[in-house]
Amino acid sequence: MSEQKKTRWYKDAFVYQIYPRSFSDSNGDGIGDIPGIISKLDHLKDLGVDAVWLSPCYKSPNDDNGYDISDYRDIMDEFGTLDDWKNMIKGMHDRGIKLIMDLVVNHTSDEHQWFKESRQSKDNPYRDYYIWRKGKGKNGKKPPNNWTSRFGGSAWEYDATTEEWYLHLFTKKQPDLNWDNLKVRQEVIDICNYWFNLGVDGFRCDVITYISKAAGLPDGKFNLVVRGDEHFTHGPNIHEYLKQVNRESWSKYDTMIVGEAAGVTIDQALLYTAEDREEMDCAFQFEHYESNFWMHILPKKFDLRRIQKVFSRWQFGLMQKGWNALYLENHDQPRSLNSYTPGFEGHREEAAKMLAIAIFMQQGTPFMYQGEEIGMTNYPFRSYDECKDVVVQNIRKMLNPLDKIFEKTAMKLLSRVSRDNARTPMQWNASENAGFSSSEPWIKVNPNFTEINVEKDKENPSSILNFYKKLIAFRKGNETIIKGSFKENDPGNKEILCYERWYHGERLFVVCNFKNTEVNFRAPLDAAYLSCELALHNYGYDRPLLQSLVLRPYEAMVYVLK
Ligand code: GLC
Ligand code: CA
Repeated sequence: MSEQKKTRWYKDAFVYQIYPRSFSDSNGDGIGDIPGIISKLDHLKDLGVDAVWLSPCYKSPNDDNGYDISDYRDIMDEFGTLDDWKNMIKGMHDRGIKLIMDLVVNHTSDEHQWFKESRQSKDNPYRDYYIWRKGKGKNGKKPPNNWTSRFGGSAWEYDATTEEWYLHLFTKKQPDLNWDNLKVRQEVIDICNYWFNLGVDGFRCDVITYISKAAGLPDGKFNLVVRGDEHFTHGPNIHEYLKQVNRESWSKYDTMIVGEAAGVTIDQALLYTAEDREEMDCAFQFEHYESNFWMHILPKKFDLRRIQKVFSRWQFGLMQKGWNALYLENHDQPRSLNSYTPGFEGHREEAAKMLAIAIFMQQGTPFMYQGEEIGMTNYPFRSYDECKDVVVQNIRKMLNPLDKIFEKTAMKLLSRVSRDNARTPMQWNASENAGFSSSEPWIKVNPNFTEINVEKDKENPSSILNFYKKLIAFRKGNETIIKGSFKENDPGNKEILCYERWYHGERLFVVCNFKNTEVNFRAPLDAAYLSCELALHNYGYDRPLLQSLVLRPYEAMVYVLK
C-alpha cells in the first residue's frame, strides 16, 4: 500500500478471520496452507466480506501454532512461500477484499535470530531485546519474581549459558520482547512498514496490552493461579509505545488496527481507540464471553442478562467516542452455539442465525470466524491425544502422575473450553476429511461434517450461510447500523434480547429469543404501531411486529420502523 491518509473504511467493513492451519489444505499434507486459502477466495467474495484477518502465517516452529514467530518477514514452510502469499493478497485485492495480518510482537519464538543471539552472552547486542534478570535465592536458582505464564507455571525460564532467567508470559518458547528498548520498537515499526509496502491493509495486534512491564518487575499480588497481571497489563508506557508505532507506521497508511485487549475496561478501551488519541482503531474485549464462562465448568446456567449488560455497556460506553470490535468467535474460544445458546440441539440453524442478528446489528466492526457462517459446533473431545493445543498439553503435564485416572474428568471440563474447538478443520463438503484435505488432517474433523458443511449450505436457500449473505448485504452501507444510537428495551429480560438503533428518523428494531422454547414477547407501545418492514428473520416468513407475539425457539427479527 502506498502511503495514504486513513479513510476509516473499517467502519463499514465485515471481517472474516482465517486460521490458516485449519482452513484449506492444497497439497495433501493435512495442514491448511496459503494456496488452500487462494482456492477459497470466491467463497469469501460470495459471502460478501470486505476484509480478512489472517492468523499468523510467518515462519514459526509452531509451539503455539504460529503465535511464536521466528522470522517476521517470511512465510511458514508448511503454509507456502512469500510468492504464494503475494498471489493470495492479489487474489483478495482483485476481489475487493482487504487483508489484515496478525502482529505478534509481545514475544517472539525462542528460535528467532534475535533470541538466539540474546541468550549467548550478557553483552551481546541483542541481549536487551528481551527481559533477562538474575534469579533470586542463594544461587540465583529461584525465578526473579512470582509472575505466572498465561499458559501455566512460572513466567521465567532459567538459561544455563549466562546463568540468568528470561521472561515469557506464554510458553517458554515465546520469550517476551523488551519494549523499553527503543531498538525493539524500531524493529516493530520496520516490520509493519515492510508488510504495508507489500500491500497489507492493517494489523490485529496480539496481546498488545501486555507489552509494557512495570519498572523493577515487582512481585504480583497473591493469587493461586495467575500472578503479575497488574504489573504488565496496560503497563506504564503502553500508550507512549503505541503512539510511536502509530506515528511512524500505522497512521501513514489507510489501515485498520485492532488490538487484542483481554481485561480491558471501557475507560481503558477509550484510551486505546478514541480517534484523537492516535493509537489503535478498536479493541477486542472479552467480557461477553467471560460473563458466562463458569457455566462451562460449574453447574451454572447460561444467563442472558449478563451478556445483555455487557453488550449495552460497550455500546453506550464507546458511542461517538471510540469504536467496537463485534465478535462471538475466534481461534481461542469455543464455538458460539455452545457458548451462547447451550441446548441449541434440534434448533441449530435458528440459533446460529439468531446469534448473528444479536451481535452484528450493534455498532462496531463485525468479525466472524471461519465456520461460523455454517454454524460449526464444538468437537466432542474425549482424550488428551485428540487435543493439539499447547494449553491442554501443559495442563496434561501438570496432572501427569494421575494422568489416566483424571483424563476423563479433566477432558470433560477441558473439552468445553478448549481452544481446539475452534481449530478443527473447516467443513467444506461431505467427502472424506470434510473436503479440507486429501489426507488425515493435523487435528480431527468434527464428526458432524456430513451434516454441517459449506456445500450443503450453498444449495439450501434458507441455510445459515445464505442468511449471513443477506445479513452482510443488509449491513453494508446501512447508516443506522454504522452511526445510529443504541437503545435497550426491557434490559432485565431473561429470555429475550431486544434493542434498537436510531438514526435520523429511522429505527432498527432487533428482537432475539435466546431460549430453545416458545416465549411471549410484548413490543413497546411506541414500536408496535409504526409501519414496519421486516428486514431479517431467521424463520424466513413475513411476520409483522405486533404488540404481543409468541416467539418460536431462538426466533429473531430485525425490523425497520418508520
Ligand atoms: C493471543 C492469541 C493466542 C496466542 C496468545 C499468545 O491470545 O490469540 O492464540 O496463544 O496470544 O501469542
Ligand atoms: Ca498443506
